[in-house]
Amino acid sequence: MNGIEEQIPVTEPERQNHYMQKTAALVAELSAKRGRKLTCYIATFGCQMNARDSEKLLGILKAAGYVETDDERNADLVLMNTCTVRDNANQRVYGRLGVLKGYKKENPDMRIILCGCMMQEPEVIEKIKKSYPHVDLIFGTHNIYMLAELLYTQLKEGKQVISVKSEAERIVEDIPAERKYAFKSGVNIMFGCDNFCSYCIVPYVRGRERSREMNEILDEVKRLADSGVKEVMLLGQNVNSYGKNCLQKTSFARLLSEVEKIDGIRRIRFMTPHPKDLNEDVIDIMRASKKICHHLHLPLQSGSTRILKLMNRHYTKEQYIDLALHVRERIPDIAITTDIIVGFPTETVQDIDDTLDVIKRVEFDNAFTFEYSKRTGTPAASMEGQVTEAFVKEQFARVLDLVQTCSKKRAVLVQGQTMEALTEEVNEHDPSLLTGRLSNNLLVHFPADPSLIGEIVKVELTECRGFYYLGRLVQS
Ligand code: 5AD
Ligand code: SF4
Repeated sequence: MNGIEEQIPVTEPERQNHYMQKTAALVAELSAKRGRKLTCYIATFGCQMNARDSEKLLGILKAAGYVETDDERNADLVLMNTCTVRDNANQRVYGRLGVLKGYKKENPDMRIILCGCMMQEPEVIEKIKKSYPHVDLIFGTHNIYMLAELLYTQLKEGKQVISVKSEAERIVEDIPAERKYAFKSGVNIMFGCDNFCSYCIVPYVRGRERSREMNEILDEVKRLADSGVKEVMLLGQNVNSYGKNCLQKTSFARLLSEVEKIDGIRRIRFMTPHPKDLNEDVIDIMRASKKICHHLHLPLQSGSTRILKLMNRHYTKEQYIDLALHVRERIPDIAITTDIIVGFPTETVQDIDDTLDVIKRVEFDNAFTFEYSKRTGTPAASMEGQVTEAFVKEQFARVLDLVQTCSKKRAVLVQGQTMEALTEEVNEHDPSLLTGRLSNNLLVHFPADPSLIGEIVKVELTECRGFYYLGRLVQS
């Protein structure tokens, strides 16, 4: 001891930068001992928000000296960013933890970290404490920016560290992020959700709705554009209510029109609007914009007005249909996709018939269909009339069948047209092809040189293969 107290900053992000340096020094020591760089492996479950969080987590780990690996078994650090929207995601995490236990026996220096939505549930933490002592560090959704500090503590003390906060104390965004794609990025515009749909655990694990200030978002988008990003996806649980709680009250439509003005950004997407709040201003801007993609993900959840009421969705079957058809009328080439839940408490065959009716009338371009999953603590979990598994399986098949018929029918409509695609990667199965994403969110595979990755190119959609196209590059 030299008697001089170390100065630890109390403000953020300075404090985390301080801990990143300290962790980096510790990691450098460990890697000198092991004679190689330390490696990290990140598994991400769930939605786009989690994907974006994982980019930030990887950014911090890289700043702390780790290199990314796809070899989970031999990694020095394995981090699982979890989701708890449906129970099967939780079960997958427990399954993986079992496998990791074996890996850690072979490699006792491995560090296992859990974070994300599932960690916000007290029962989960109890279960991990009791049954999974090999987990080294746990944190939640409100303090991912603290990874460096928490990891430092864990590496120093060697004990299980748990830090889960029940509410966000602040929004800390200025931390490094390691983008998966150089040319596209998610941008958080708000956090949390105040809707309390009766089946959904998100408001409990992601907390109350908070919008980021518009100037901070625009600065981030500008920085992304300067670093080569062409497409941004504005992320929030209910993007239409963006701005309600900003210092200067503003709106999602305003935000869209400001992002539109940023040079270098060629495409804008957003996720997720709520049908009850999608207003004409946003539709007008989408229609007039040269950059906002013609894709609207508009979660239906159920087509039955009775079930929608029980779900606390605040719209009826007819209101949803009117809205979707109105959007189609104003923006004729728009792709509308949706989420549907099958098996909500008290659901009957007639309710499913209503859902099928909405699918037929709206003709969704695609729909994600989920079996209802009972989430402890939500109002729906204690409703009478939980339905049987056999009912769910049977009705799920009916919904899926119609969804697939509709999406094939929609996809074939644009066969033969030439459209712009953002080239994302070399095709997984055939390296002579590149995969590009169209404005309507469908993929097209076409022969071209990998140097075009990250570029927006014109592609003729020569053949529709159901949910994707084969295409031909058109020289412009
Ligand atoms: N059970 C099944 N699906 C759910 N979703 C949210 N909560 C549940 C649940 N308890 C679905 C909704 C939402 C999507 C992200 O996940 O359809 O739009
Ligand atoms: Fe869940 Fe409803 Fe909020 Fe979506 S809008 S996150 S379904 S509570």
